[in-house]
Amino acid sequence: MDNTVVYSEVKLNDTKGGTAPGVKILRNSKSGTQLKCQSFSKLTLILGFAVLLLLMIVVGMSIEVVRLHKDHSYAGSTSQARQNVYNRTSSKHLDQTIPTNPPQHCGYCPKGWLLHKEMCYLLSSVLQNSTSAAASCSTTCSQLARAEDFETLAFLRKHMTTAFYWVGLNKTLNGSIWLWTGSTMLSRTHYFNNSNHFGKDCAMISKLLIYAESCNSTRGHICEKEASCGT
Ligand SMILES: *[C@@H]1O[C@H](CO)[C@@H](O)[C@H](O)[C@H]1NC(C)=O
Ligand SMILES: *[C@@H]1O[C@H](CO)[C@@H](O)[C@H](O)[C@H]1NC(C)=O
Ligand SMILES: *[C@@H]1O[C@H](CO)[C@@H](O)[C@H](O)[C@H]1NC(C)=O
Ligand SMILES: *[C@@H]1O[C@H](CO)[C@@H](O)[C@H](O)[C@H]1NC(C)=O
Ligand SMILES: *[C@@H]1O[C@H](CO)[C@@H](O)[C@H](O)[C@H]1NC(C)=O
Ligand SMILES: *[C@@H]1O[C@H](CO)[C@@H](O)[C@H](O)[C@H]1NC(C)=O
Repeated sequence: MDNTVVYSEVKLNDTKGGTAPGVKILRNSKSGTQLKCQSFSKLTLILGFAVLLLLMIVVGMSIEVVRLHKDHSYAGSTSQARQNVYNRTSSKHLDQTIPTNPPQHCGYCPKGWLLHKEMCYLLSSVLQNSTSAAASCSTTCSQLARAEDFETLAFLRKHMTTAFYWVGLNKTLNGSIWLWTGSTMLSRTHYFNNSNHFGKDCAMISKLLIYAESCNSTRGHICEKEASCGT
């Protein structure tokens, strides 16, 4: 129960940390454009915008004409078709006001963390029980790693220096299913190399094995968080 709370906190922090750098970048690029534009005269700017606007209107209209034709052939009533076009047009305008999404991550990991597939991993050799390991990850705004695909597993295994590491995979309280952090159900039934999971509610990985283990055993652990754009 305690840990569920800790994990949701981590998730929140992660999203917070993920968006903040993106917003920064956006502002940076915006002020960059403003700087560029200052070297042009006002008239050139206005003319440029007018031409651009005209071009957009022409292109937009021709697209809508094509769509209207399509709607006529599919929808029975004309009002339905018009409503469709109206809805699409309004959503299109919405799209235009929103600037292109900044990249969610720029492949930046904190010092000592390993970058793999836009995620940062930290392998810790400090021997702790699963609860303490999860708490350690949360102090760095991360969570126990989800080594869900074999490619990630292979990457992590290359960097192992300790026998076993906790990962973010747990049996549910009623003991019936295994869940990855974030409530993804374990997709493969043959994930584990040991099959007797009695009293073993946590998961650990080594260079060769994936084992269910008693959560209060002391092992290393692997934390993960999304790569960011840095500072
Ligand atoms: C995993 O299960 C153990 C034992 O039930 C529990 O102590 C721990 O908090 C759980 N961890 C997570 C991340 O749910
Ligand atoms: C258009 O949008 C309105 C409000 O968003 C919605 O109620 C309506 O069903 C939509 N019409 C069509 C044809 O999608
Ligand atoms: C065990 O808990 C999970 C989710 O926590 C639920 O989906 C599942 O139905 C439960 N199983 C039993 C037998 O209660
Ligand atoms: C562990 O299980 C995986 C998947 O079933 C298998 O490929 C691997 O050979 C097993 N490792 C050992 C040491 O048995
Ligand atoms: C995990 O380790 C901590 C610190 O050593 C300890 O306080 C806690 O009781 C342990 N929890 C379990 C479930 O073994
Ligand atoms: C934790 O470990 C102790 C001894 O190491 C053991 O007696 C106890 O049953 C374990 N508790 C759990 C919940 O696995």
